[in-house]
Amino acid sequence: MARNTTRFFCTDCGHEELRWLGQCPACQAWNTFAEMKVAPAVGASKGARGYSAAAKRPVGFGGQASAGGPPAGAAPQPVPLAKVQSAATRRLPVEPAEVARVLGGGLVEGSVVLLGGEPGVGKSTLLTGLALWWVRQGIRVVYLAGEESPAQIRMRAERLGFRPDREPGFLILPEVHLETILGALDEATLAAASGSGVAAGPPPATIVIADSIQTLHSDEVDAYPGSPTQIRYCGGVLADFARRSGWPVFLVGHVTKTGDLAGPKLLEHMVDTVLYFEGSGGGAIRMVRAVKNRFGTTGELAVMEMRGEGLVPVDQAGLMFLSGRRGVEPGAAVCAVKNGSRTFLVEVQALVSPARYGTPQRVVQGVDSKRVALLAAILEKRGGLDLAGCDIFVKVAGGGRVDDPGADLAVVVALASSLRERPVPEGTLVLGEVGLTGEVRGVSELEARLREAAGHGFTRVVLAAVAGRRPRGVKGIEQVPATSVEEAVALAFEPGHPAGGRRAREATP
Ligand code: TYD
Ligand code: MG
Repeated sequence: MARNTTRFFCTDCGHEELRWLGQCPACQAWNTFAEMKVAPAVGASKGARGYSAAAKRPVGFGGQASAGGPPAGAAPQPVPLAKVQSAATRRLPVEPAEVARVLGGGLVEGSVVLLGGEPGVGKSTLLTGLALWWVRQGIRVVYLAGEESPAQIRMRAERLGFRPDREPGFLILPEVHLETILGALDEATLAAASGSGVAAGPPPATIVIADSIQTLHSDEVDAYPGSPTQIRYCGGVLADFARRSGWPVFLVGHVTKTGDLAGPKLLEHMVDTVLYFEGSGGGAIRMVRAVKNRFGTTGELAVMEMRGEGLVPVDQAGLMFLSGRRGVEPGAAVCAVKNGSRTFLVEVQALVSPARYGTPQRVVQGVDSKRVALLAAILEKRGGLDLAGCDIFVKVAGGGRVDDPGADLAVVVALASSLRERPVPEGTLVLGEVGLTGEVRGVSELEARLREAAGHGFTRVVLAAVAGRRPRGVKGIEQVPATSVEEAVALAFEPGHPAGGRRAREATP
């Protein structure tokens, strides 16, 4: 092996430098550089094709192999796009339906899914639960156990309803050495392990779960397991394996709050789907979010609850982020946000009080804190409220997180409601993006949002006045258009506001 050399990597984004830097030039994060040993010869031998190990290795991948490409050693030739066969994406079924939806309707064959999340959030529980369902459908699952012993995995599986006589296709491979793993992932070995004959019909579909990618290591790179170099290399080889074999691969990656060992970030570009698994404010609610999906839409959200018997989808997930005390207390405003194909009613809560000590505090949970600072400034400048000397606390009820700009107006109204000690009347929804000049802008998919709100007893919505075009009415919900933040705030509190009454009559067909 060639002379070792050291490099510095940003643990957040994987950016590589020859020397240590305080701030990453790529992602601007501070104090994220870590020193790693790398073996330059291996990196050089990879060439432009990338990962060498899987390419060099005799291909023993079973299943629906579809390697394609030039034979080893031949120079690759450009091919007209018209001559390329378009592959129909075949999807393996996934249960529960919550998770299937986040994956875009099923698990695409040969795809690589990265499941990131903090330790203890329930990644292994989710994947073990999915695996149990798959093996009952006759799909074989190989669980690469890097973090836990087979006995621990068995205990978890038993908790989730594992029945030894029904699930022979659940295979555990307690191995962290990448080359050994690749050697074992072949049809004959797996068929022998699961006790089924090799020749008996077509081989079953197989899903590989690597729990976790941080524990794997390869001889091809000279770095510690869990280091950016190992994570990138092992992730790349397994991604390559998935594409050649047609076997979907799950890569579990831990993310910590401080961002160190942020392996998943290094892998995002080489996988097909990135799911992030989040808890909510220490409770039992867990959310799986697709942040990248080559085979579906992003922004989809699955809401589940961690119970004694595993993760269970939540009934009425659309109401998860309401406190259940609408319209009673000041400092709360409800909006309807889109997460992929789903609509959620979300209650934004604010507490505004005069700052007693020094610099006023701004504490924000579940909404981008810069956005809240911006909205507070707009409210101050355009809405005529004095927030400068106040502590501001903002959060989303139920531990939710909102990225939808349509929630801007709810933040603004919640702040105003807390400052003025006036509750927003029950049944009122506020919906709109707020611009720097204090204008209220429309939201996408308005009708779907209004239907969801009307379905849960909301009767009135303050929203953007759309010039020249009347929004389509939704039965049971009165639309109260507002052009400015000031007007919207006034209308949110006062059903009888003169502007509100006039506009509402105009807008309702
Ligand atoms: P785990 O899947 O091990 O987390 P991760 O793989 O993300 O590190 O799950 C961790 C927590 O979930 C653990 O504290 C126990 C809890 N749990 C339940 O509440 N119910 C269950 O059925 C299972 C299996 C785990
Ligand atoms: Mg785990």
